[in-house]
Amino acid sequence: MRIFVYPGSFDPVTNGHLDIIDRASRICDKLVVAVLVNRSKTPVFSMEERISFLEEILAGRPNIQVLPFSGLLVDFMREQKATTVIKGLRAVSDFEYEFQMALLNKNLNPEIETLFMMTSINYSYLSSSAVRELACYGGNIRDLVPEAIVDRIYSKFKAR
Ligand code: COA
Repeated sequence: MRIFVYPGSFDPVTNGHLDIIDRASRICDKLVVAVLVNRSKTPVFSMEERISFLEEILAGRPNIQVLPFSGLLVDFMREQKATTVIKGLRAVSDFEYEFQMALLNKNLNPEIETLFMMTSINYSYLSSSAVRELACYGGNIRDLVPEAIVDRIYSKFKAR
């Protein structure tokens, strides 16, 4: 069984992430969307919110599972019996950082492969921080995130 892991902060999930999730889920038996618990950046959306957004959007997709993770990605991969990390590349600027991460992970566990997918051109400018910035100032995020979570994103910033 080929198990892939797509890790990230998903603060919040965007249509760019979903594009990668859709395509990755077609080339493996099971895709684990792994939501990072603790890291240097403080998330705007809590772990519960980030997971519930993903679970709601991905409901009814039997080969996709959403799970929280903390610590090293390679350890999580081992626990999940996963072989491959999926990462999206949006632009050349993503490459250097991603290359470093892939090499670090390879060094930690040579059996793990990192597979890069080119993000679809329509989402190459998109990031979670762009969505947060727009939502914070009332800009239009409707084409950037799934319809189901638009209002909850706006509400979060109204409440802050
Ligand atoms: N569409 C839209 N946005 C995308 C995207 C896509 N296809 N791909 C990446 N992004 C954006 C994210 O939205 C995020 O945007 P933001 O910074 O504006 O919020 C940005 O790219 C970075 O993505 P993020 O989800 O924060 O993940 P990351 O690429 O920084 O890596 C982990 C996160 C979880 C993979 C990494 O930190 C990790 O493995 N941590 C565990 C510790 C570890 O094992 N470290 C490595 C060995 S030392």
